Amino acid sequence: MKLLVINGVNLNLTGRREQGVYGAETLEEINDYLKEYAESRGAQVTFFQSNLEGEICTALQKADGMYEGIVLNAGAFTHYSYAIRDAIASIGVPVVEVHMSNVHARESFREKSVLTGVCKGEILGFGKNSYRLALESFLI
Ligand code: DQA
Repeated sequence: MKLLVINGVNLNLTGRREQGVYGAETLEEINDYLKEYAESRGAQVTFFQSNLEGEICTALQKADGMYEGIVLNAGAFTHYSYAIRDAIASIGVPVVEVHMSNVHARESFREKSVLTGVCKGEILGFGKNSYRLALESFLI
């Protein structure tokens, strides 16, 4: 099973920004944790991060036919990127949307995701384990 984890805008700052919300672990540390978990379950995981909307669309397009599942934390793009939504809808690989924080317990603009409707499912509020649970959803 080949899985891809995509992180969007500002997620490269995880561990440094808003630690009370996103925790103190860096994205690299979280990715190491996820890699170890995926490998223990016999899956291969690849990671991609970009602050650029178009690069995320390109990564989604390129993933078509290459992966069996994608875990996507699009960061703030979640709330307004029709381009990322269309890219998800354009590919055959199922995408699970994740958020580390409980977006429904925060500012009202975070309550709306324009991506959920074209995703297989959504997992949020469990910190780094939101990613792990999303990976697991492809492995059960
Ligand atoms: C986030 C939630 C988004 O609203 C925010 O813009 C992020 C991170 C999360 O993981 O909780 O950058 O996707």
